Amino acid sequence: MSDSSNARIALITGASSGIGAAFARAYAARGCGLVLVARRMERLEALAKELKNAHGTKSLPVRADLAKPGAVQEIAGELARRRLFPDILVNNAGYSIARTFLGADWPAQQDFIEVCVTAPAALSRALLPAMVEKGWGRIINVSSIAAFSPGAKGHTLYPAAKAFLLKMSQSLAAEVSEKGVHVTALCPGQTESEFADANGTRGEIARARMPTQTPDEVVKAAIRANERGREIIVTGLRNRLAVAAMKVLPDGLSAALIRPRAAKFSLPD
Ligand SMILES: NC(=O)c1ccc[n+]([C@@H]2O[C@H](COP(=O)([O-])OP(=O)(O)OC[C@H]3O[C@@H](n4cnc5c(N)ncnc54)[C@H](OP(=O)(O)O)[C@@H]3O)[C@@H](O)[C@H]2O)c1
Repeated sequence: MSDSSNARIALITGASSGIGAAFARAYAARGCGLVLVARRMERLEALAKELKNAHGTKSLPVRADLAKPGAVQEIAGELARRRLFPDILVNNAGYSIARTFLGADWPAQQDFIEVCVTAPAALSRALLPAMVEKGWGRIINVSSIAAFSPGAKGHTLYPAAKAFLLKMSQSLAAEVSEKGVHVTALCPGQTESEFADANGTRGEIARARMPTQTPDEVVKAAIRANERGREIIVTGLRNRLAVAAMKVLPDGLSAALIRPRAAKFSLPD
């Protein structure tokens, strides 16, 4: 591999499955050391072993529940104790609640906000200073094409959280791109992973037979875009067309087209 991520350290949240595990494999193949963060430690340890055997990768698996306030500070403390200063941050951990706002209780919504909004911002704040000091850094925030959607019944806070990551990425890019830090919002559409298992919509997704990308396809496009300094990458032609349509159509028309279809991917309250 010849890009400039050689011999760097990449911290990836949500590395225990799906897109996060694909990021870990891709950065390991580029010669990076890894800090792998998620709750399922046995998955992280198995991935670390796989990547050590495949590439000689040094990995630090870190068990963390990002819904817990203070989790990011604990991770930062552990990194400081080990004198580890990641050069690459992938804010990937995430999920959605496939119910209406009133169909899920507030603690569940609050956990969602901690994982999908607060943790990525806090991790960026924790790791950016060392990147800026080194004059080299990479941040990829895993957003979604949902960031461009007009909102629909069910998964209520998901488009808002993903739009937060999109806007945060753009603002950070404006602040640090001249300091050698590339910040990219990654916006995939439907991707094969455990996402639908985690939110209980595997059956609905299978019935819809939507075009789906693999995590490897998504990650390949993301790393290429990030290396080029692109602020936003929408992966796959169909997703780019969908986003283009959502940008040009009036919100009312976009909502009328999207909401009946989106409702099929929500569970009854
Ligand atoms: N799949 C799609 O169609 C799709 C489309 C657009 C965007 N995305 C985004 O892609 C990202 C990755 O999702 P995926 O599709 O790869 O789904 P996935 O296979 O379910 O992976 C989600 C990851 O997030 C971690 N995670 C969830 N809650 C966590 C918590 N409280 N603390 C720490 N880690 C937590 C999970 O690890 P543990 O359970 O081990 O903690 C897992 O590694 C998400 O941000 C998602 O919104 C997915």
